[in-house]
Amino acid sequence: MLSAESASVVRATLPAVAGALDEITSRFYGTMFHDRPELLDGLFNRGNQASGAQRRALAGSIAAFAGALLDHPDTRPDALLERIAHKHVSVGVTDDQYTIVHKYLFAAIADVLGDAVTAEVAAAWDEVYWLMAGALIGQEARLYHEAGLRPGVIWRQWKVVERRTETPDVVSFVIRPADGAPAPRARAGQYVGVRLLMADGMHQVRQYSLSSAPGGELRRITVKRVAGTDGAPDGEVSNLLFDDVCRGDELTLSSPAGDVVLDDTDGAAPLVLVSAGIGCTPLTGMLAHLAAEESARPVLVLHADRSPAEHALRAETRELVERLPDARAVFWYERPGPEEPAARSGLMDLTGLELPAGAAVFLCGALPFMRGVRTQLLAAGVPARRIRYEVFGPDLWLADATG
Ligand SMILES: Cc1cc2nc3c(=O)[nH]c(=O)nc-3n(C[C@H](O)[C@H](O)[C@H](O)COP(=O)(O)OP(=O)(O)OC[C@H]3O[C@@H](n4cnc5c(N)ncnc54)[C@H](O)[C@@H]3O)c2cc1C
Ligand code: HEM
Repeated sequence: MLSAESASVVRATLPAVAGALDEITSRFYGTMFHDRPELLDGLFNRGNQASGAQRRALAGSIAAFAGALLDHPDTRPDALLERIAHKHVSVGVTDDQYTIVHKYLFAAIADVLGDAVTAEVAAAWDEVYWLMAGALIGQEARLYHEAGLRPGVIWRQWKVVERRTETPDVVSFVIRPADGAPAPRARAGQYVGVRLLMADGMHQVRQYSLSSAPGGELRRITVKRVAGTDGAPDGEVSNLLFDDVCRGDELTLSSPAGDVVLDDTDGAAPLVLVSAGIGCTPLTGMLAHLAAEESARPVLVLHADRSPAEHALRAETRELVERLPDARAVFWYERPGPEEPAARSGLMDLTGLELPAGAAVFLCGALPFMRGVRTQLLAAGVPARRIRYEVFGPDLWLADATG
């Protein structure tokens, strides 16, 4: 895959490039948005730009891909890119845009590394970039095709048929296509992009997991409003949805995307669905799907939250678990309450909990929570390959996740 000459140059320069990736990606986005400000209007997430999360995710993905190519020069590590391809499709990335990214990324590499970027070094990294881009373009073309979409033409109007307050900070929107045509096919665990016009005239896109079963004409998203901490501003899209969107309003949504899906697992294998906070949404969608299918799979639902009152979709989770013949739930609360007398107190702790043998595990919650639970699961003998996770932001865990 990677030519022998390029492999030796990439091997020799990977430490220098990896060490400078933060500066390179920071300069890359800076110059690209300076020259192409339209890319911040309805494509890139400016919250992730401000926090630096997108820059770190891009750097991590390049380092992981290059490292995997060096370990196995004959194989293109496409599996590493699946999540990115789904995210790209959920925001409408098109293949012509790879030339734009290439131009600014390679100018940034040359600026940051200076004379170290000889023609030979540039050519070797060019090969890595186009291997990565080629894999992404191929995967994205397939995803657009499977969804019956023209590349980049992804937005559709949906009507809010119900708005439901779940907790003081979480609201659900039940939606259907505004034109009355069938809802696009979705898989349990997937998310949609929601595109809103902000007060300054720019559009912003955020992803929200489908918290309902993926069949039928109705879909549901469940949104937690994000408060700014340590002087950072409040989250702009979640608060706009929370404050302004009512029954009867229209929302602009992209087609369902996401590679952390229930139907990728062996249909008979037991399931363990582990979440914290608003991370319950994709897992509730999976649970609702299992209930709709009258599944007999053993299911263990584990959820941690601050208190029962702040646990979104709590009653529904209980009800879905009741409907399934072989499911049970265990909840942990930092501040337990009378609504859940059997719940455990404190943070999630799997000690002494019997996990079904051979289970497929889905994790969703903040990164520190997922890292902690994954460590506990590995210690309990669950193989890493059976643990799938969804991150509610740019994936800063990519390099780890292949282990
Ligand atoms: C696959 C996926 C599924 C998801 N599913 C759900 C779901 O089901 N439900 C749900 O509620 N959310 C979900 N999310 C999260 C959601 O997409 C948004 O990230 C979330 O709603 C916050 O968006 P926002 O626009 O409100 O915040 P943003 O404006 O994007 O801000 C995000 C964070 O960045 C900080 N920030 C913003 N600007 C700055 C700055 N200038 N300096 C420093 N910090 C700054 C903010 O304080 C905030 O903490 C999901 C995300 C992904 C990727
Ligand atoms: C080889 C080239 C590319 C690589 C390696 C790459 C890598 C990534 C990564 C790692 C993410 C974060 C995924 C996640 O959520 O975990 C991402 C998201 C994204 N990418 Fe790319 N990308 C590439 C090309 C492009 C191109 C050509 C465009 C279009 C101009 C683009 C636009 C985006 C957007 C808009 C997001 C979402 C940003 C956000 O939500 O903050 N990418 N990409």
